[in-house]
Amino acid sequence: MIFIGSDHGGYALKLEVIEHLKNRGIEVTDIGCDSEASCDYPVYAKKVTDAIKDGSADLGILICGTGIGMSMAANKESGIRAALCHDVFSAKATREHNNANILCLGARVVGPGLALMIIDTFIDTSFSHDERHIRRISMY
Ligand code: RB5
Repeated sequence: MIFIGSDHGGYALKLEVIEHLKNRGIEVTDIGCDSEASCDYPVYAKKVTDAIKDGSADLGILICGTGIGMSMAANKESGIRAALCHDVFSAKATREHNNANILCLGARVVGPGLALMIIDTFIDTSFSHDERHIRRISMY
């Protein structure tokens, strides 16, 4: 199960992502926001981090204008490894090396085509389980 959240800056892209994930047969829960009315991204970051922490979500996606605010807010939570990725290489590497559990995207930074490629790569890549990566992520 993937939980997805956005603020107003990420709302339009979020709708495209949800449709894409559903077309792939992936279960997705949208925790808001529900319109392009101005709102506060930390509210939605918290809802997705809570879902990761309580086991409701396997992975999360957070979208705001830049992805930066969402990633800062999400990474305040213990057990959260939120990665801001605007390229496919980073999306693959952060799953393999960092076991990232949340992908953050900036809707004002990337177009929908690239965003969906980044999301597919993030979802389809597994943690490597290499001893060195386990050691490193256990250090923070
Ligand atoms: C909202 O205008 C914008 O600040 C927000 O979407 C995000 O980019 C914050 O990091």
